[in-house]
Amino acid sequence: MGTNVEVLPSQTALLERSLLLVADKINTATALRGQCTIALSGGSTPKSLYEAIAKQSLPWEKVHVFWGDERYVPPEHPDSNQGMARRAWLDKVDIPAANIHPMPTDAADPAADAQKYELEVREFFGSAPGEFPVFDIVLLGMGDDGHTASLFPHTDVLQARDRAIGVGNKDGQPRLTFTAPLINQARCVIFIVAGANKQSALAQVFAPQGDDMAYPSRLIEPVGELWWLLDESAGGNLGLA
Ligand code: 6PG
Repeated sequence: MGTNVEVLPSQTALLERSLLLVADKINTATALRGQCTIALSGGSTPKSLYEAIAKQSLPWEKVHVFWGDERYVPPEHPDSNQGMARRAWLDKVDIPAANIHPMPTDAADPAADAQKYELEVREFFGSAPGEFPVFDIVLLGMGDDGHTASLFPHTDVLQARDRAIGVGNKDGQPRLTFTAPLINQARCVIFIVAGANKQSALAQVFAPQGDDMAYPSRLIEPVGELWWLLDESAGGNLGLA
């Protein structure tokens, strides 16, 4: 349904634009389908967005929150994406506990937790075998190596074709992650990327030809809308917007 690229003049402008877009997509989904399914990204960029969303008046009882990836740590660990989103946002709004669907990170084997989450997600969406769930919104960041979610360069999970949830690997550390096929089924994928250190990877991701295995964000080509919201320092010199 087309790619939208916006380069915002500052991180503040990027935050404001991101908030407007995400709130609009949440309201649209709940108005059209009675609920909104959103998968959250982790890392540092989205924290201020989550803090801002928490101040919005949105139909929280109709919003179901999932995670697009998770570090393999308990939720109370400072690196936990679940913990960050709860502290910044979910603990501050009246969203039913049953609407929050964190990735499990307590099995001895990450692959077992990936399979457990896949079953949970498929059951929630009522997906038939071989069918991928369709999320309303998938929020993504991008690392300075072009990774997104926990789809890191040259890792096995990039080859996943029939799984929705896989085990990513960052420097030998396991992570749970949405696979590219799952992300690509979404109605709306929104990348939010800030910082000059992302510039060179963005140039590779946006190049007409390139190595998808080296820059996994290239794999993200959703059937729905694709949005890239960049700040000037990340996207200003790329001639994108
Ligand atoms: C994670 C993320 C990851 C993140 C990028 C960018 O768990 O870390 O989901 O994909 O979005 O690494 O992170 P920053 O926003 O901190 O630059």
